[in-house]
Amino acid sequence: MNRAQNAPPPAKLIPNLGLKDRNTFGFDAKAELAYEITAPEQIPELISEIARQKLAWRVLGGGSNVILPDNLPGATLLMNISGQEIISSNSEATFLAVGGGVNWHDLVSWTLENDLPGLENLALIPGTVGAAPIQNIGAYGVEVADYIDSIEAFDVKDQAFVTLTNEACCFAYRDSYFKQNPQRFIVTKVVFKLPKAWQARIHYADLAKQFSEGSTPSPEDIFLAVCKIRTRKLPDPKLIGNAGSFFQNPIVPNEKFETLLKAHPNLVSYPDAQGKRKLAAGWLIDQCGFKGQRMGSVGVYENQALVLVNHGDGTSKDILGLAKCIQDKVRAEFGVSLQIEPNIL
Ligand code: EPU
Repeated sequence: MNRAQNAPPPAKLIPNLGLKDRNTFGFDAKAELAYEITAPEQIPELISEIARQKLAWRVLGGGSNVILPDNLPGATLLMNISGQEIISSNSEATFLAVGGGVNWHDLVSWTLENDLPGLENLALIPGTVGAAPIQNIGAYGVEVADYIDSIEAFDVKDQAFVTLTNEACCFAYRDSYFKQNPQRFIVTKVVFKLPKAWQARIHYADLAKQFSEGSTPSPEDIFLAVCKIRTRKLPDPKLIGNAGSFFQNPIVPNEKFETLLKAHPNLVSYPDAQGKRKLAAGWLIDQCGFKGQRMGSVGVYENQALVLVNHGDGTSKDILGLAKCIQDKVRAEFGVSLQIEPNIL
């Protein structure tokens, strides 16, 4: 095939690639055919080839929100598209275009160094920029959806690049149009809209505690405070394998919440949409006595019951076995179903 003069080379193929260092659980998974995607233009040809050969396929970003099986058959697309640039600016906001393979925390640091505040509450979340909108990452009262202008992606169904506006992404708590349509979109670029009018958001209890009453923290102060809390509460994947919160915080109707509260006056919850209440899954799991427990090579983190960990040579089967025990016990104790947050590949 004739390649256009400036077209990038095809995606590099790496057969039988070990993914231990490319998933934060540290599972010893193997990708049969790993393709390194460094430019959007490589995608259409690769997807056609995958379809022609009827291969299974999936995209892997930073591997911070996935549960990998021992073997990944077919094609694994390693999202490595880099680059970040300010594309426009007006009196209200700065627009920033960022490649899907850029490390999320590096981007947050870069925005602050360049005097573009807004993302500081989302510091230290592991993973890539391209994965951030899929589960609409969120922390300390902020969700990435609050700052997304639009998303560029390859639509595998229609075989075309598309731009989705923020509205079209149907963002909700840990949810999006991308998550609702698995295997359809490959996010290549995210355009962020960072408003020039900045306001500190420190209402989230854990964060508020870091500042004295009436103080006016800067974006950098908030960034450092968030890093401090996360480092204390969440295990460093380089030291103990984990994927952050393993379950979503369940959302229940108010009546169910009232019944639970009568039986458990210490129940931790947050207001949600009208008529609903979000429960702290970490509290429910903690009450069932799982915190710090081990089951073979996997376990529940000692400082945060919502985080499941791999102590060494655990596998996806081990972690899913532990997850089932937790789900069964929480259902039996509280009548609440816990949904697994990371993607099970
Ligand atoms: N709690 C316990 N025991 C525990 C853990 C929590 O009793 O072992 C109670 C505490 O009362 C605590 C409350 O549950 O105050 C909530 O816990 P925390 O503030 O740690 O937040 P979370 O609900 O566990 C959510 C996100 C995190 C995010 C934090 C901060 C989800 C599923 N998780 O956790 O996101 O960093 O809020 O905003 O929504 C992630 O998604 O991977 C993640 C880390």
